[in-house]
Amino acid sequence: MTKKIAVLPGDGIGPEIVREALKVLDCLRQDFGVAMETEDALVGGVAYDAEGHPLPHATLSLAKDADAVLLGAVGGPRWESLDYSVRPERALLGLRSELNLFANLRPAVLYPQLADASTLKPEVVSGLDIMIVRELTGGIYFGKPRGVRTLDNGERVGVNTLIYNESEIRRIAHAAFRTAMQRDRRLCSVDKANVLESTELWRQVLTEVSKEYPDVALSHMYVDNAAMQLVRAPKQFDVMVTTNMFGDILSDCAAQLTGSIGMLPSASLNEAGKGMYEPIHGSAPDIAGQNLANPLATILSLGMLFRYTFHDETTADRIDRAVAAALDSGVRTADIDSPGMRRVSTAEMGDAVVAALRARAN
Ligand code: IPM
Ligand code: MG
Repeated sequence: MTKKIAVLPGDGIGPEIVREALKVLDCLRQDFGVAMETEDALVGGVAYDAEGHPLPHATLSLAKDADAVLLGAVGGPRWESLDYSVRPERALLGLRSELNLFANLRPAVLYPQLADASTLKPEVVSGLDIMIVRELTGGIYFGKPRGVRTLDNGERVGVNTLIYNESEIRRIAHAAFRTAMQRDRRLCSVDKANVLESTELWRQVLTEVSKEYPDVALSHMYVDNAAMQLVRAPKQFDVMVTTNMFGDILSDCAAQLTGSIGMLPSASLNEAGKGMYEPIHGSAPDIAGQNLANPLATILSLGMLFRYTFHDETTADRIDRAVAAALDSGVRTADIDSPGMRRVSTAEMGDAVVAALRARAN
């Protein structure tokens, strides 16, 4: 049976960047015989506007039935005053949790062509290649109790709960060790075990699981130090594994090391390798609809989709090489532009990647 990708463009720049990834997919179908169906659905603010909920039933069941999900971005100022339960971001959290996508892989790779785009000195970031493994369905994002309530004395309190079961830590630990085994076999676990008991347990479980991976060198780092080390000497890291919220923060930090958050893809996987793939950046409402956004993170996310869900390394490598070739040709969207390069639009960047793919057909 033909494999199916659920395509959820979402809000803001989502539709523009997903359109370019679909151009790449079309080229793979036509010129490389990749068999793949797609089906679109609404998610986020546009789904709320059309159906009253950011994650309509039809979207969720499509995502569940499909072999993989490709998502653009959700959210925007238009929906910021809505109740939490129907904010666009809830759709993302709902998909992650309903599909059990507990392992979030966020690679931060500096393309040599973009060494000048980083705000850090080239010698600090050149050759950078980090993989952040973020726990995605637990921790403070989902812990209960949560909410804002009013005490008897009339004062309001806001509560969120940082909670991890041993089994949740164990499965993300295994995902991280397996990832490290495919790379340089160095794993740094990031926690706040000096203050937070839940992450003291995290550290213990990581240490226990490490016994099953004698070839991987495990180290531990407090999150405040990890944030500092990421900007001081990021190349010391190979794979980092951390909690949901720390991973959210550290992955934005790592993204900036690479010059632009517009370059970074992500994969969110369940136990069986089914996944949702999305750029790590948001919906960028300020530039939405202007054909300015960088589609490369979404195109690279499509590459991760082939690699991690379909185990099709050939197609994944093709996509990665086409992105590199497009950068080699000197085209740059605004976020990665530098003197001497050719500034292009979202659509032109997609075309450049397709042209690079075609150039290697056969
Ligand atoms: C991310 C985003 C999301 C998160 C938001 C949009 C809910 O920042 O994927 O990193 O916090 O996980
Ligand atoms: Mg984030």
